[in-house]
Amino acid sequence: MPPRRYLPRRPPRPQRRRPSPAAAAAAVEAAAAVAARPSGPVELPSSVAVKDLAETLGVSHADIIKELIRNGIFATINQTIDFDTASLVAGELGYETVERGVSERAAATAAASQEIVAPGSEEEGAGKPVLFTEDADADLVTRAPIVTIMGHVDHGKTSLLDAVRSTKVAAGEAGGITQHIGASEVEHNGRRIVFLDTPGHEAFTAMRARGAQVTDIAIIVVAADDGVMPQTREAIDHVRAARVPMIVAINKVDKADANPDRVKQELADIGVLIEEYGGDVIAVPVSAKQKTGIDDLMEMVLLVADLQDLKANPKRAAVGTIIESKVEKGRGNVATVLVQTGTLRIGDVVTVGRTFGRVRALSNAEGKRVKSAEPATAVEIIGLQELPEAGDILRVVDDEKTARDAAEAVARVATNGDGRGAFTLEDISAQIQASEVKELRIVLKTDVQGSLGAIRNALERLNSAEVRVNIIRESAGDINESDVQLASASDAVVIGFNTKLDPGAQRAVDASGVDVRLYDVIYKLTDDIGAALNGMLAPKLVEQVEGHAEVRMVIHAGRAGDIAGSYVTDGRIIRTGSYRLLRGGKVVAEGRIESLKRFKDDVREVANDFECGIGLSGSPEIAEGDVIECYQMVSEPSA
Ligand code: GTP
Ligand code: MG
Repeated sequence: MPPRRYLPRRPPRPQRRRPSPAAAAAAVEAAAAVAARPSGPVELPSSVAVKDLAETLGVSHADIIKELIRNGIFATINQTIDFDTASLVAGELGYETVERGVSERAAATAAASQEIVAPGSEEEGAGKPVLFTEDADADLVTRAPIVTIMGHVDHGKTSLLDAVRSTKVAAGEAGGITQHIGASEVEHNGRRIVFLDTPGHEAFTAMRARGAQVTDIAIIVVAADDGVMPQTREAIDHVRAARVPMIVAINKVDKADANPDRVKQELADIGVLIEEYGGDVIAVPVSAKQKTGIDDLMEMVLLVADLQDLKANPKRAAVGTIIESKVEKGRGNVATVLVQTGTLRIGDVVTVGRTFGRVRALSNAEGKRVKSAEPATAVEIIGLQELPEAGDILRVVDDEKTARDAAEAVARVATNGDGRGAFTLEDISAQIQASEVKELRIVLKTDVQGSLGAIRNALERLNSAEVRVNIIRESAGDINESDVQLASASDAVVIGFNTKLDPGAQRAVDASGVDVRLYDVIYKLTDDIGAALNGMLAPKLVEQVEGHAEVRMVIHAGRAGDIAGSYVTDGRIIRTGSYRLLRGGKVVAEGRIESLKRFKDDVREVANDFECGIGLSGSPEIAEGDVIECYQMVSEPSA
């Protein structure tokens, strides 16, 4: 059956651009695309192909596949997933969904119309109208920019934020104690700017790896007496990979040995061209110590914000990202959420990652109780059942049941899945073959600087008109945690040549599942990458035993063959799995599980200690006491 399109095609997810006057129009366009995200629930059929889901949500196939993999589901773009799974994935990407009864007429209406449709109303007894709404232009208002400060150790990130805060705190708050909630709000020329307090690209990229992108503008601090250092370069790589516009703050210009020109030159050497040098990156000289240049810096932040045309709809249900969380005596679970769109209010029911709750109180950056929080506001909330994690997406939903279900679904797949959130080279290769991906992103590390050029050249020779390698970071030395985080957040693989992982990197790999490939011979490296680019690298599949069930009774179901009335003794039996029929420890038959029932209901999985009916392909002769081993092939977890 050809894939049906249920909803108008959504525009592609906008990519952020570095602002330059020429890019202003593009930024406006991108913002318009953001605005086009549906604000009401998106309706989905009971099953949907991955690529149709991507189209419906207006995100890339890779985003959907990545989210599925993160949840332990390995699907290709043509595979269909059921509503529950689709809904979960959509939820992670910030969309609300509702299931629809399949009604061709309504689908046609929806496909033909750009307007709000209520196909649910065509069905008997449909209580809730299914809406597909866009933020109306009239509802969109300019929101404050959200800024992160990054840079090398000791270059003055903390001092700069302090200087900004002390000179720029909102009127009325001056002199007052600012509560630490993970974000600060300042005011310049009557406009708000929000700073995230957690500096450093680790936090930035860790959040991005979890699918959350909260930063609109990155300020890269470079000390004028020290110049571009390793972590300056790393920060810039991370910011570029995230396509977040950057502003360079050349700090410590008060120092006698300050040399801002050298900083500009060193930036040019790594491809960051400031305006003076004909580029489009703004650089501002500042002294965090003497509090000079702060106004200029704020001016530039607002300029870059204007070029991005940041807008949000305060009238819709709130969506935000958790930036901090802690347990506090007397208050319970306290989380800071940065509201990104919509307005969050006391009493709202929210789902947040694996947990949920009702917002019992809100307090702002000044520590004051507030009743609501508009877009681009950081607020502390209490009322969550459990502590969420930084990077978890918060969504306001209709009722507690919806919130609980969403949280449980996330928790369930999180425990069942292996937590892998990254692509392997095989995954990427499969996508290249399916023409879903046009480039292979690589973080390249070598033992010595001299090898970098040689390997880069060898890799670039593999480029074709269709696909190319994109080396998003290259440097000499051990593979470190930052390399792995960058790869994880950018769907890249890490290629090491004559190098190894440091302990921090190994931990990051274990946590993220990023594919790291180590080589000591160039032709092996180019062979693998060449195969991946041609979409020829077959996924390495390994068997994963899901569980066992003991046959307690054989049910003769006529033409349908025999059904094994069984009891799950360990793990689980899954409908999509394969089986081995074991008798006295020997395999007597194998094939696919054809049906799985609990009482009369078809189910997708049956857990340990439950009874079920299992239908086996190939109509094997089944006997009481046989053991059914259920397994599935999964892509091999990377090293
Ligand atoms: P880490 O958090 O350790 O990565 O450092 P940081 O980037 O937050 O730097 P921090 O703000 O702690 O500043 C490091 C040192 O530089 C401190 O001793 C500051 O007093 C000093 N410093 C920061 N800004 C300036 C400045 O504009 N001028 C001078 N002279 N010193 C500065
Ligand atoms: Mg600091």
